[in-house]
Amino acid sequence: MQAIRLRRLRKDSANRDLFRETQLHPKNIILPYFVVEGKKKKEAIKSMPGIYRFSIDNLIKDIAEAQEMGIQAILLFGIPKSKNEIGSRAYKKNGIVQKAVRAIKKNFKDLTVITDICLCGYTSHGHCGIIKKSKTKNQKSKIIDNDATLKVLAKIALSHAEAGVDLVAPSSMMDGQVKAIRETLDKNGFKDVAILAYSAKYASNFYGPFREALDSAPQFGDRKSYQMDFANSDEALREIKQDIDEGADIVMVKPALCYLDIIYKVKEKFNVPVAAYNVSGEYSLIKKLSNGDRAKERDLGLEVLTAIKRAGADLIISYFGKEVGKWLC
Ligand code: PBG
Repeated sequence: MQAIRLRRLRKDSANRDLFRETQLHPKNIILPYFVVEGKKKKEAIKSMPGIYRFSIDNLIKDIAEAQEMGIQAILLFGIPKSKNEIGSRAYKKNGIVQKAVRAIKKNFKDLTVITDICLCGYTSHGHCGIIKKSKTKNQKSKIIDNDATLKVLAKIALSHAEAGVDLVAPSSMMDGQVKAIRETLDKNGFKDVAILAYSAKYASNFYGPFREALDSAPQFGDRKSYQMDFANSDEALREIKQDIDEGADIVMVKPALCYLDIIYKVKEKFNVPVAAYNVSGEYSLIKKLSNGDRAKERDLGLEVLTAIKRAGADLIISYFGKEVGKWLC
């Protein structure tokens, strides 16, 4: 009888909140943004309705709106003027992300600014690292040069730190990326810039819409040589441990929805803040399913995000960031 009595009590929304074990709050959500060169730009991303590529002026306006809805942290992705083989626009002092960070820091006080550290949006081939040719007996092939990439990632992180970022988020899944970045930041006087490591990042089929946003789909092959097999969970725990040992302040599981068990295990095993990335395909799925019906979108969104939090995520990166504030008030 007690169980039923509690359930009846919960029908009233005030009581429901009182007994809720998991509370979602926009303060725990990190909102991703895509930033492009130019002025007055607000380009729609077809496969992600409601998400745009903003030029810096419009980005500032949108962040102000997001902040009013309770968002306190953003994750920035840059779309450079042009791409090349080595992604050199990623570490330019006047690169798009570096300029955006400076402008954001000038305009907002209480906002945590996080930047993505990767090459895929900057390279002409769309891979997350530097390519080298490898010759085996029978064939020539292209592979990712892990160690050469580490140097570039550290350079990108340093340029973001110089622009004033609070946290850097290496997402390329190169081996040793956290250590390389930590050492470079420390050496250059940026001990306080923290690292949010994409530690357990799966080779997922849910990244499609994001690659449209960033125009970063690999031009040959796939990312399976550096992202994880979705069938593995012990490997995720090893990756997480390695990143913590290398100096990660926050670890991330990505994507979130098919990986709730991983989030749970990581939270149980390691005593560090855990972030989960509710990725573009997961966002688009809800958009498709709700088909413009705002109430449905809210119900689906709240269920998904609450489940990610219930599994153990302290922080959630979600394109629904602005909506969460609306949904919960
Ligand atoms: C790669 C990167 C990806 C995402 C963020 N950074 C995935 C990829 O293309 O492999 C995906 C985020 C999303 O789908 O929302 N640096």
